[in-house]
Amino acid sequence: METVEQAQVEIARLSEDLRRHQHHYYVEAQPLVSDTQYDRMMDRLLYLESLYPALKLSDSPSQRVGSDLGTGFPEVRHTVPVLSLDKAYTGDGVLQWIQRCRQRGEQRLSFVVEEKIDGVSLVLYYEKGLLARAVTRGNGFVGNDVTPNAKTIKSIPLRLSRPYDIAVRGEVFLAKEDFAALNGTMEVPYANPRNLAAGTIRRLKSSETAQVPLKMFAYEAYFANPADAVHSHVEILRLLKALGFLVNPSIAVFADTNGDIFPTMTEGQDDAFVQGVYGDIPEYLGKLEQQRSALAYEIDGLVIKVNELGVREFLGYTGHHPRWALAYKFDAPEAQTGVLAIDVQVGRTGRITPVARVKTVKVGNSMVSNVTLHNQDYINLLELAIGDTVAISKRGDVIPAVERVVEKNEDGNTTCQLPAECPSCKTTLVRNGAHTFCPNGDCPDQVVGRISFFVGRQQMDLEGFGPETVSFLVERGLVRDIPDIYTVDYDALVGQSGFGEKKAAALALAVEKSKEQPYRSVLVALGIPDFGKKAVDLLVNAGIRSMKQLLEMVDSGDSETLVAIKGFGRKTVDSLFAELSDSKVRERIARLELLGLQFSEAATTAEETLPQIFRNQVWCVTGSFERFAPRSLALKEIEARGGRTTSSVTSKTSHLLAGSGAGSKLQQAQSFGTTVVDEQQFIRMLQGGEGDGSR
Ligand code: IVH
Repeated sequence: METVEQAQVEIARLSEDLRRHQHHYYVEAQPLVSDTQYDRMMDRLLYLESLYPALKLSDSPSQRVGSDLGTGFPEVRHTVPVLSLDKAYTGDGVLQWIQRCRQRGEQRLSFVVEEKIDGVSLVLYYEKGLLARAVTRGNGFVGNDVTPNAKTIKSIPLRLSRPYDIAVRGEVFLAKEDFAALNGTMEVPYANPRNLAAGTIRRLKSSETAQVPLKMFAYEAYFANPADAVHSHVEILRLLKALGFLVNPSIAVFADTNGDIFPTMTEGQDDAFVQGVYGDIPEYLGKLEQQRSALAYEIDGLVIKVNELGVREFLGYTGHHPRWALAYKFDAPEAQTGVLAIDVQVGRTGRITPVARVKTVKVGNSMVSNVTLHNQDYINLLELAIGDTVAISKRGDVIPAVERVVEKNEDGNTTCQLPAECPSCKTTLVRNGAHTFCPNGDCPDQVVGRISFFVGRQQMDLEGFGPETVSFLVERGLVRDIPDIYTVDYDALVGQSGFGEKKAAALALAVEKSKEQPYRSVLVALGIPDFGKKAVDLLVNAGIRSMKQLLEMVDSGDSETLVAIKGFGRKTVDSLFAELSDSKVRERIARLELLGLQFSEAATTAEETLPQIFRNQVWCVTGSFERFAPRSLALKEIEARGGRTTSSVTSKTSHLLAGSGAGSKLQQAQSFGTTVVDEQQFIRMLQGGEGDGSR
């Protein structure tokens, strides 16, 4: 840790360097250092400033994170904040996001997929149809007025065909061919068309901007007068085109089912929209990614947007990005670094996980120093040895992964092998399928893992039982298994390493309080393999509300009752039965029950008042309804009566609730022989509490 004086010197130096780099990057569009180097310096400055707020310079470059504000151009406040986009890196990620939009907003949505142009974002403000201001993104709230330069761009209309008050957002870019031709003539070449475009839009002399054939694709519009507004993104794009803007023709619309695409969108269109259902999106993304290099301009991904503008408004924004749009990025962020060591961890189930310790490196937005290697097979596949240089990737929110070895070590290290013995208890390891296990249930690392899971926030939520405390208790031999945490005399620990009276009292209190945790939490916290929150909910909702009931089933070998529960597979049930037949597990449960933990749950009042008429049924809902708008209201009614709901019709769907305008789901239901129910019948079912006779 540095002294205050050292921090002050470093802050001054970093501030000066970063200011210079910002100027080169944002103003000259001619970076001197790599993004990674720049980010590292900025992170360090932010860190030091957070430690010593008093030392932060009033003009610190940290205040300009991600801003392209330069000098020489007046600063202008945006009327609509210019936000950036949340990201996904896989087709699945996109589909998941679509599901979230539908859950939050409206089931029946359509989505537009556009190209994500790798250029410079620009907002054009028109007043009564005349271009009044062109403003760069800046920090999202305030940008630079570059109107004289923007006026040299031929695809930006100076006057619209109608006298609108409107803000238009688009991307200024330079075609690959134009970039190649221009860049060859430059003293210091630019790295890519984006940088050259960014540099050009900020020329102090607009005559210089005019020399470069910049273009702009317009992709969003905001109306000052609500009466002018349209209702869908597709209509915005059509309107922009009619007003004289250049609009990228590569657009596709996807909807719930083909039948759900609103007629207004397909009527009278002059442009060829590729259309399909949500499930077609991943394939479409892949196709566009392949065609990427053949395009005349650079794109760095695709943008998926909710088409219905009313729903956009409803979904709104987080501080950073709209909830109604998502960027699908082509390249997962990747970084290269060296492997310092390969450690092995022993999990709560005894599973051995090798972990690569790497030189800390920034991947995407996070610093990475540990990367899981999963198992020996994965290490073999990579042929990974200590000292190798590896490429690490991070796709979306998932954990970082070693993609490949980019350079072998020169120390003669060979492919890493897992040890033969458990690093914690020295028991000989055994292999089971792809994974390696420590077979000793009393292994200290396993005990720590088991207890840490039990006390975890998602499970029993015992405050104060952090990893250090748990390890301390296990190492001292005070705790050998979960129930022991309820019998330790915490007061007697006062005075030992780090234990004050407060801490001891907090632990004792946490332990007492945890006895009130509901049965479901206890069951999850036991850490039965493959038996997490979802499985526990299915079990209890199916009426198996006590440990006694469950153990009786295990003892009588009655696995069929559980296998019959929708959502349970044979595998889950077998692993549950194996675990609950283990004498150590049984002893653990018996002790916890004696100690006063909850091992049963009373039937809920909802179930008592609402007859579970839809139990064991799978419902899908389509079309629109008088009483159930949005449709999620119908889904709630079904779930409150014990039914399951899904978003598509499959052979497992028992009922389809079909409103007006039901499309292809109705046909699918008919082909599967699914019971089709209309709104009136459904209301009668809810009121009369009658099922449909199929039970
Ligand atoms: S929509 C509020 N559509 O990508 C939603 N952005 O990483 C505004 N971009 O800052 C963004 N092509 O500069 C949108 N078809 C497109 C785009 C696009 C490129 C840029 C834009 C944005 C950045 C987000």
